[in-house]
Amino acid sequence: MKKIGVLTSGGDSPGMNAAIRAVVRCGIETGMEVYGIYRGYEGLLDGEIRLLDRNSVGDILHRGGTILKTARSERFKTEEGQQHAVSMLETFGIEGLVIIGGDGSLRGGCELDRRGIRVMGLPGTIDNDLGYTDFTIGFDTAVSTVLDAVTKIRDTSSSHERTTVIEVMGRHCGDIALYAGLAGGAEGILIPEIDTDINELCKKIVIGANRGKQHSIIIKAEGVGISSQELAETIQYRTGRETRLVVLSYLQRGGSPTLGDRMLATLTGAKAVELLQEDSRSKAIGISCGEIVAYDLAEAVEQKREIDTDMYRLIGILSK
Ligand code: ADP
Ligand code: F6P
Repeated sequence: MKKIGVLTSGGDSPGMNAAIRAVVRCGIETGMEVYGIYRGYEGLLDGEIRLLDRNSVGDILHRGGTILKTARSERFKTEEGQQHAVSMLETFGIEGLVIIGGDGSLRGGCELDRRGIRVMGLPGTIDNDLGYTDFTIGFDTAVSTVLDAVTKIRDTSSSHERTTVIEVMGRHCGDIALYAGLAGGAEGILIPEIDTDINELCKKIVIGANRGKQHSIIIKAEGVGISSQELAETIQYRTGRETRLVVLSYLQRGGSPTLGDRMLATLTGAKAVELLQEDSRSKAIGISCGEIVAYDLAEAVEQKREIDTDMYRLIGILSK
């Protein structure tokens, strides 16, 4: 395989640049031409495709975001769009594609695979919502950002003896809330996978306060049904304790990637090129028990992510 393309798609995540860098430099090392496809599938449809060299990816390893830009594309979801995407790749002579994105982006990759394009999917999303990999690129950085915020919020929350609800990202997956809740010592977390009894949560806050707890931190994933404002108001009303809301929003998606994300991005990027070089079938690349793994792309995207219930229970025990 001589010509390959690389694109980023869906919500950006810290570490995407490190992955692009690895794909470009490993690709060039093995004698390939590597094309950058800008603005995800939208840019692919519009032919926003440029040859990259070693210098194009210089000084980006440590930067959040994606130099290739990212987008969501309704056009690409259609049969016509996907056929057009394939003909665009054919025009440039691109036979293999590295797609860095979340669940939706990798599903888009499956459509291209069905039409004869060799696709290597890299898990690029802060949500950690892909079932086939233990971690996704960007998750570690996002949780670190949330932890930093929790630490700061604790100070003021404790001074004012308040409860603070912190809303974090995660539409269908509660992993950001789960990990930040355990590592940040939250009194409770609300995640889409498990129903929370808000009455019980309020009782716990009151019991803790009566025992001398100065403040309570509740971390709520955005995908949970009740609005965060309503949750904060309900907690204030039922506990009689002042309650504030902090929505971390896009703060979580920016910033320099952590060691973990740089390693994951770099190793999966290098693996993608190795597999394309070997003319492997389309794969989803990730990490399992500390090892870089590659699974059949279509099977991998169908793997459902399970929440770690032991971690969830532990939060309850530690924060009593
Ligand atoms: P993420 O990749 O972060 O999960 P999205 O779910 O928004 O983000 O998906 C990114 C893009 O991937 C979408 O805008 C669309 O172009 C494409 N995509 C998503 N789901 C599919 C699908 N089932 N089939 C084809 N393309 C898809
Ligand atoms: O998929 C990543 C993610 O950051 C989600 O956690 C969040 O719900 C969504 O993207 C936000 O998307 P947008 O950038 O379109 O607002």
